[in-house]
Amino acid sequence: MHIPENPPNPSLAKNHYRENQIHRPPSDTHSDTPTKPPDQIMAEQIFIVGGEVEPPYFIGRDEEVRRIRLDLLSRAQHNVIIGPRRIGKTSLLKNLKRSIGDEVLFVQVNCRMITHPSDFFRITTRAMVETYEEKHRVKGLARKFSDIFKATITRATRSIAEIGGSIEHIGQIYLRFRESEVTESELIEETFCFIGHFAGEIDEQIVIAFDEFQELSRFNPAIFSLFKTHMDSRPDVRYIFSGSSVALLNKVFLKPDSPLYLMAAKVRLEPIGEEEVSRYIRSRLQMQKITITGDALDTIYRYTDGFPFYFQKMGFLLYQQTILEGRDSITSDDTELAFSSMLDEFDSEFESRYACKFSRQQQDILKYLSAEKTRRLKDIAESMGTQSSSLTASMRDLTNTMTIDKPAEGRYGILDSVFRIWLARNILRNNE
Ligand SMILES: Nc1ncnc2c1ncn2[C@@H]1O[C@H](COP(=O)(O)OP(=O)(O)OP(=O)(O)O)[C@@H](O)[C@H]1O
Ligand SMILES: [Mg+2]
Repeated sequence: MHIPENPPNPSLAKNHYRENQIHRPPSDTHSDTPTKPPDQIMAEQIFIVGGEVEPPYFIGRDEEVRRIRLDLLSRAQHNVIIGPRRIGKTSLLKNLKRSIGDEVLFVQVNCRMITHPSDFFRITTRAMVETYEEKHRVKGLARKFSDIFKATITRATRSIAEIGGSIEHIGQIYLRFRESEVTESELIEETFCFIGHFAGEIDEQIVIAFDEFQELSRFNPAIFSLFKTHMDSRPDVRYIFSGSSVALLNKVFLKPDSPLYLMAAKVRLEPIGEEEVSRYIRSRLQMQKITITGDALDTIYRYTDGFPFYFQKMGFLLYQQTILEGRDSITSDDTELAFSSMLDEFDSEFESRYACKFSRQQQDILKYLSAEKTRRLKDIAESMGTQSSSLTASMRDLTNTMTIDKPAEGRYGILDSVFRIWLARNILRNNE
């Protein structure tokens, strides 16, 4: 079996794929200034809970966007974004794309969709072709390319021949994979080659962001060694890895013997600051002529600790409640009520997280840790009637999954403040 080392002549002009370019006015979806009539603005969502968000719903993160943008444009380094669940990783990627999508081809890949080597090929190449089509408005490119996945070999061959260049080449590889002439590992290797060839062919820098990168190691633990081989061979291809696994971050990037040691700059996503959150909530409510007291804003921040998903949810619940009751102001008491209903809503999710994701000892640690925002290891061990030294492995595992962190020497805290309060109210209290 022979895989050609190079795709058919990549000297194809950079506009090769753009022959079918369609000319549409730029979409206004990225515009910050509303152009809609006032009645439609009124119908706009006030808060968005879940899914990636863009301005005006996306706040803060200026520093992170600036820093990563600079790294990417100067081709200085790759980046790894690390943050607990619901801190806003995917939204940050989306907004990075907004920020540099004109200058580079910014491709987002959700690794949760990758469970098999052929998925790695399929999802990555498809995302590249689709992003190219969307950016340069080339009609039908992705549709023709997707024929390789499901159409007959004859039809797929015709479709990719119409495209030509490195897309035709990689399409042929996949068709041979379908015929079992190419192995899974060759397919992965070819995916990396395609990324480089495509960047050269379109004469444009490519940034590929692998969101939830910890999922990659599930289907192929050696994948990061492959990344290494390809990562520094082309300065016009930069990678971003984003995820919540500290264990993998250490294993892949931070240990001297790890495959990508010192190859990517780490960006840790922290909660959004109080001032920014309060300003956001106040101004969103103001659009509906609803006022909120300073105390109420303090309470929201105290409970949510600046976790974006939760303050958006609180904002939404408060807004909904206020409208339903025909009021136009929000106080601290309303906030307490909204928080209780938020806890009720997450009850089954937290219940199953607690029951399924942690060992018995980890459950006990979390229970006793939930009593305060942070506690000393010694005190937790004492509550559990055991020695601190017997908790080391569990503490490490909880840290590795970003369930807890160590804000000060010897002190630990549960990162997700809403989960902590749920534990305190439902698990700790029931045990007392
Ligand atoms: N910068 C931000 N400003 C305001 N709200 C945000 C921001 N980032 C995220 N959010 C809110 O948090 C929600 C979750 O964001 P996102 O999906 O980006 O987080 P994530 O870290 O990728 O979550 P997961 O761990 O579930 O993948 C969004 O739907 C939005 O409500
Ligand atoms: Mg995400």
